[in-house]
Amino acid sequence: MVDELAKPVNQLGTRPPSIRWKVLACGMLWLCAVAGNLAWAASPRRVILDVDPGIDDAMALLLAFQSPELQVEAVTVVAGNVPVELGAENALKLAELAGAWNVPVARGAERPLLRRLTTAEAVHGENGLGGLELPAPKKALDPRHAVEVIVQTVRAHPGEITLVPVGPLTNVALALRQAPDLRTKVREIVLMGGAVHGGNVTPVAEANIHNDAEAAQIVFGSGIPIVMVGLDATSQVVLTRQHLARLRESSSPLAKAVASMAEHYVRFYEGQGRQGALMHDPLAVGLAMDRTFATLIQPAHVSVETRGEFTYGQTVVNFSLQRTLTSPRGDRDTIGPVIRLEPNAQIPLQIDAERFLTLFLDRITAPPRLATPSPSATGGTAKRSS
Ligand code: BDR
Ligand code: CA
Repeated sequence: MVDELAKPVNQLGTRPPSIRWKVLACGMLWLCAVAGNLAWAASPRRVILDVDPGIDDAMALLLAFQSPELQVEAVTVVAGNVPVELGAENALKLAELAGAWNVPVARGAERPLLRRLTTAEAVHGENGLGGLELPAPKKALDPRHAVEVIVQTVRAHPGEITLVPVGPLTNVALALRQAPDLRTKVREIVLMGGAVHGGNVTPVAEANIHNDAEAAQIVFGSGIPIVMVGLDATSQVVLTRQHLARLRESSSPLAKAVASMAEHYVRFYEGQGRQGALMHDPLAVGLAMDRTFATLIQPAHVSVETRGEFTYGQTVVNFSLQRTLTSPRGDRDTIGPVIRLEPNAQIPLQIDAERFLTLFLDRITAPPRLATPSPSATGGTAKRSS
């Protein structure tokens, strides 16, 4: 065997690493990677889902419950696609369907901070679930208001909670107002809302932001790191009739429920000339668990329009991170100076839609992973076990 130490040193006076050292280093790296993965597997990301179910909210909830990368600490419900009472009932039914007996579900804001609520039965059906009838819930609502649940859960796990709001931002804004300390205690917000280009309820505004632009401005101004999963990203992820067929073939109760709801949702989008339904809210859950579903993501400064007659609810996305001010000069103003803006959001722009949809279908066609005996079967109430 060649004595590695007998080899000549190079010009810098160091010896080239021997094969043995290289093997040892690779081994150490591999061990670190395994340890890292184990640590990751052992500690799923704690999330609170704030929803207005809503068909795509329902799919987002089921995806989150079915994903071991996430630990759903609570589901909070806001008025949006449907009135909050109906949204809360739907959230309870979906939690039960997924076997998530131990996850608190709390009802929140009944209306936006300042404006009148706009619901979306045309998109989601009269019952919010595309006409899917699920059994009346046995699980009870958490007695606390959703805002209290958000505040208490974040304070119980400072720096650990990712908020995933996929409806109007009313609950989150109220929580930030009530508990300003949340600004430094929330790990991150991965929200579905807004757009760089164009809207879906007005030419420039997306539905969630348009429903409560004042709340959205509070959230974007909070200083909490935000991922804005807007229409630019979500319109790349299309659930087609082929996907529906795969869901229908599955024996999983979750797949059957999703196929039934999505039939209505796909038909709505086909009516708009699309090939299938846009997976808005599920994509936000996907990006909360794995940022690499976005193949291009850019920092920006986002402001929310709250006053414009034609632009209310628009997210004004500034990638230049500069703003030109004007200064008075006699009876007029003149351009300058230019100031730097800190980014307040990351904007996913390109999505690996196929990889995300594969994961979505795999998770939804799998047996319910949280399934535990119902409280009636155990004779107890639906208390948390974790
Ligand atoms: C958003 O609006 C709602 O109708 C959907 O649930 C989604 O959150 C898309 O603009
Ligand atoms: Ca929604």
